[in-house]
Amino acid sequence: MESREFKLAVLVSGRGTNLQAIIDSIEKSELPAMLAVVVSDVEEAFALERARQHGIESVFLDPKAFSGKEAFDRALVERLREKSVDLVCLAGFMRLLGKPFLEAFPRKIINIHPSLLPAFPGLHPQRQALEHGVKFSGCTVHFVDEGVDSGPIILQSVVPVYDDDDVESLSQRILQEEHLLYPRAIRLCLENRLEFSGRRVFQKKD
Ligand code: GRF
Repeated sequence: MESREFKLAVLVSGRGTNLQAIIDSIEKSELPAMLAVVVSDVEEAFALERARQHGIESVFLDPKAFSGKEAFDRALVERLREKSVDLVCLAGFMRLLGKPFLEAFPRKIINIHPSLLPAFPGLHPQRQALEHGVKFSGCTVHFVDEGVDSGPIILQSVVPVYDDDDVESLSQRILQEEHLLYPRAIRLCLENRLEFSGRRVFQKKD
C-alpha cells in the first residue's frame, strides 16, 4: 500500500453532508488523504461553509461568469490541475461534466447517487423508487462518464423500503449509507485497489 497522502477535490452544489462524511473520515485517519479543494457552482451552498470551517480551500466557480459549459469545464480543470489532485469526487454536484473534463481526469472522477443504479438515474431518485414500488433501494458509487449516472459501478449499498416511507424517510435511510459508502469507495480508488474488466469493477484480492 502506498503511504503518501493523496489529494482529493470534492465538487458540490448543496448542503454537503457527503463532503462532511469525507472530511470526518480524513480527520479520523480512516482516509489517507487531504482535501486539496472544494469547488461549488452555487455560491450559497452550505458545503462551502463546511469546507471553510475545516480550513479547507473553498472555491465558488460561477457558471454565469463563463461563455458556456466548455469554458466553465476548462476553468474547473485548471483549478484542479493547479492542486495536482489524485481523485475528483462529485458530492451533490448538479452539473453534467463535458468531454474535456472527463478526458483530463480519466478514471479519476467518481460520483455518489442515491439509488441502486442503473435503476432511477437522474433527478429525484428516491421519489422514483417510491413511485415504482421497489422493496429495496440504496446508493451507488460509480465512475463518471458522459451519461447521467451511467458509469461503471464501484460499490453499492442496499436499504429496505418500508410501506410507510415517504421521500424524506427513504432519503434519510439512504443518506446514512451514503456516508459510510463514499469514504470506503474513495479509499479503494486512492489505494489503487480496483481492477477493471469492461464495465465491471472488482476489488483486487489481497
Ligand atoms: C446525495 O443524496 C448524493 O447521493 C446525491 O446528492 C445528494 C447530495 O447530498 N448525488 P449532500 O449535499 O452530500 O448532503
